Amino acid sequence: MPSDRSSRARVSARSAVEPFHVMEVLKAAAARQRSHGDVLMLCAGQPSTPAPAVAREAAIRALDCDVLGYTESSGILPLREAIARHHRDAAGIEVSPEDVVVFPGSSGAFTALFLAAFDVGDQVAMTRPGYPAYRNSLAALGCEVVELDCGPDTRFQPTVEMLEALPAPPAGLIVASPANPTGTVVDPDVLRELAAWCEEHGTLLVSDEIYHGLSYGRPTASAWATSRAGVVVGSVSKYFSMTGWRVGWLLAPPALQRPLEVLTGNLNICPPAIGQHAAAAALGEAARAELDGHRERYAANRDLLLRRLPEIGLRDYAPPDGAFYAWCDIGHLTQDSVTWCRDLLDDCGVALTPGVDFDTVAGHRKVRLSFAGSTAEVDEALDRMAASPLLRPTTS
Ligand SMILES: Cc1ncc(COP(=O)(O)O)c(C=O)c1O
Repeated sequence: MPSDRSSRARVSARSAVEPFHVMEVLKAAAARQRSHGDVLMLCAGQPSTPAPAVAREAAIRALDCDVLGYTESSGILPLREAIARHHRDAAGIEVSPEDVVVFPGSSGAFTALFLAAFDVGDQVAMTRPGYPAYRNSLAALGCEVVELDCGPDTRFQPTVEMLEALPAPPAGLIVASPANPTGTVVDPDVLRELAAWCEEHGTLLVSDEIYHGLSYGRPTASAWATSRAGVVVGSVSKYFSMTGWRVGWLLAPPALQRPLEVLTGNLNICPPAIGQHAAAAALGEAARAELDGHRERYAANRDLLLRRLPEIGLRDYAPPDGAFYAWCDIGHLTQDSVTWCRDLLDDCGVALTPGVDFDTVAGHRKVRLSFAGSTAEVDEALDRMAASPLLRPTTS
């Protein structure tokens, strides 16, 4: 019998990063679904729809006709051309296929970018609240995360004043607009000021634009419209409704293009071949009507939420300018959002995301509602929440 040494396997100190607490919610929701069959998932950060029909057809064609072996590490040319065209059409910026490097999701892009741009010990600034994977992967790579405390007065977005207040310019600044978890959009003038400040101070601006295409009235500017010194992050996961296909990309300035290509070749060899063929089709004009239809449904769900959230006592939330999230304060109900979300699931089968993943300071009194599902589901979830004792403030 071989001896069991598994308990003595080496584990690095750098791997001790925070888990996604939302995974615990998903596990509990799956258990509730098995026992009660009544779960309404307002916790998922993804569309409830499949990839657009033309993308699925392209995938079937690729399965039938293509070897689907390794591709160029930075992505197949037709996809890089489609991405360049998409940015030209959507943001009016001149992009060539050489500017584009494709990765296994924008998550894969972030890992390669952080390695390509930052060294151990470098400081990288991001908003609080913000997307936790930035913080956790930067920490695993030995970078120091500087959290910028962002509130309603700046639409939960960073400003030049916040950067000026730091002891030294950071090596990088991550801006997400529309953002997760708040859904807020950075004002185009503020983005321009941030980009200019970053250029002047040698700070790499990383502009996460993966929720572009999903905004409800406010303009969303691309960082490359004003400064090409920064990096733009894109993905087919959100507007294009293709999370599991794992295709994301960077628009990178020339100095970073080769390091990114070399790193992704080593880390990933290439992005998924079938995902690349499907994504190239999704980026074309033929998918537009279907995808705009999804956005119209999100807009209707958002209107419903804005109307009904005050009805259930949730009056304090970030303005949901884009994406498909509402970031709500529940401080009048609890100081423990994790337990409260678990109790809500037990009480009425509605799964929300506790704020602790996104905000290391105030997350215990916040929840994120996703309105990416059907309008009927969102409405039913609000009915159930209205009837739940958990939404009634305790008077003690
Ligand atoms: C702000 C933000 N950036 C990046 C990602 C990663 O997305 P993907 O790897 O699917 O492109 C997410 C996923 O939810 C996100 O919310």
